[in-house]
Amino acid sequence: MKAILLAGGNGSRLYPLNQISSKQLQAVFDKPMIYYPITVLIAAGVREFCLISTPHDLPRFRQLLSDGGRWGISIEYREQPHPEGIAQAFLIAADFVVGDNVVLMLGDNIFSGGDDFPRAMAEFHGGATIFAYHVKDPERYGVVEFDRDGKALSIEEKPAKPKSGYAIPGIYIYDNQVLEIARSIKPSSRGELEITDVNREYLRADQLRVHRLSRGFAWLDAGTSTALQEASAYIEAIERRQGVKIGCPEEAALVRGFLTLKQFEALLEGMPNCEYRDYLVSVAAETRRLGGFK
Ligand code: G1P
Repeated sequence: MKAILLAGGNGSRLYPLNQISSKQLQAVFDKPMIYYPITVLIAAGVREFCLISTPHDLPRFRQLLSDGGRWGISIEYREQPHPEGIAQAFLIAADFVVGDNVVLMLGDNIFSGGDDFPRAMAEFHGGATIFAYHVKDPERYGVVEFDRDGKALSIEEKPAKPKSGYAIPGIYIYDNQVLEIARSIKPSSRGELEITDVNREYLRADQLRVHRLSRGFAWLDAGTSTALQEASAYIEAIERRQGVKIGCPEEAALVRGFLTLKQFEALLEGMPNCEYRDYLVSVAAETRRLGGFK
């Protein structure tokens, strides 16, 4: 399974913060926002990434993440010159996906808890799998309506009158048909190739699975300055309480076996003295204590 990370847009709802960096590079507590989706995907076993961003912001992402080799993954980069919709990612990265299945993840979606994504990816056998999460303000999102048996009935993008409280988060798993579907859909009234239209195609073909995320699961939005601050506070509270980090790609790569303990420790040598490094040092010590890693 390959992964596309979409980190486009101008982040205007974060003004003036968007003047200093792209939205997905802003700090969410102690790390850049883009670390969170990357960690989710590494934890699910994804090794091949393609990151899409604006021509303006792409160099900064390259500088931060380079080719991904230090985390045992590969990252390619593609430009999205104009924000013309999430589904455009499949046109931009078609040569990266080629014959494979693909998970598309939005660079500003922050998740914490559960093993829903690794399980859904491991169990994926074609068609599309998307997720549903109960929110107070579904009208801001793609909304899925279920029948009594929990089967998806309809999907609408930002409906004025939502048919349910279930929003669709920004992580979508597709088989290779998605490339053809993305080519076939037309821009919406807001001038974008909507991911909702892609999902509707799969629904129409009876090839859409909608997995409801459990209550304890956290899906955080960081699109406005207030939401960004709230996401930071949430991450800080959980990290402090548990003494483990959320969104730490190095740790996920070690746990997943993308890095040996030796490679992980070599990574620490190049890192400045800081709280983040202190944490990784403690992860290395604990891993060594428990044994089982080379
Ligand atoms: C997009 C999608 C929407 C989805 C949301 C998740 O909305 O169009 O269906 O629920 O991402 O973050 P946008 O970010 O374009 O408002």
